[in-house]
Amino acid sequence: MAATRMPYLKPERPEKVSAPSLKSSKQRGERLVCLTAYDYPTARLVDEAGIDVILVGDSLGNVVLGYGNTVPVTLDEILIHLKAVRRAVQRALLVADMPYGTFHTGDDDAVRNALRLVKEGGAEAIKLEGGHKRVQLVKRLVDEEISVMGHIGLTPQSINQLGAYRVQGKTARTAQQLIDDAKALEDAGAFAVVLEVVPREVARIITETISIPTIGIGAGAECDIQVLVLHDMLGLSFGKQARFVRPYAKLREVITDAVSRYADDVRSGNYPSEAESYALPAETADALDMENPTRNSKAKKS
Ligand code: KIV
Repeated sequence: MAATRMPYLKPERPEKVSAPSLKSSKQRGERLVCLTAYDYPTARLVDEAGIDVILVGDSLGNVVLGYGNTVPVTLDEILIHLKAVRRAVQRALLVADMPYGTFHTGDDDAVRNALRLVKEGGAEAIKLEGGHKRVQLVKRLVDEEISVMGHIGLTPQSINQLGAYRVQGKTARTAQQLIDDAKALEDAGAFAVVLEVVPREVARIITETISIPTIGIGAGAECDIQVLVLHDMLGLSFGKQARFVRPYAKLREVITDAVSRYADDVRSGNYPSEAESYALPAETADALDMENPTRNSKAKKS
């Protein structure tokens, strides 16, 4: 019984995670873990490792689709990856990002797009970027029974206005704005809020001020939950990494080594071996007069 109810590699945390359960975890002082995932195999490994929240983030654009930033990512692209992740995830709370342009043309459009993520993609919650200017929309989505995760601080979808990915909230005015934004999102009904690349002191004040969990990325240790982009922490993305990305693996090196050894083996005739191919059954060889297949094929060619 226990084995079927706890099919996880880390069975000490078998309970299904939900948006409300995150708040209870905060109240109990538990530190939870979030990672992104974009496909079936990695989502399955992440879920089975006991990660609490899995985000199909629009970081998809950077680390999987090669766009260079998140702006071009479409709802259909998120949906394709979300469906694959949905098939893999059993325990974690599954959250899908609303890509740039899917919640900017009116609240009805935003609700329609969010509903596609929930109904077609199987997301249990959606995430959208922005603070006070998203408050009415967050209220509307929550009214429509859609669980909403906020996202403030560095909002990568604003890259064309920001000009560069920089720490946000370093002045008294912008730090206060972040604190106000987090409170406004909580009041609007968001169940959690991502704090991306903000000073740890600001993240601590927000974490202590609001009752919903903060999910930090480059926001220090005081956040209730930490999130990283999977490909970054596995060493599977390109370019310079931000200081908050701890490299837990070097998958680029692992993959390059495996692929190079395979290519060497093929070129040298070392792959495939007999054990890695299939022999014709003896009776078939007899029927085809192939006792000596080499002689036979040479004879046929001449
Ligand atoms: O798209 C994403 O992966 C994100 C996380 C970094 C929070 O927004």
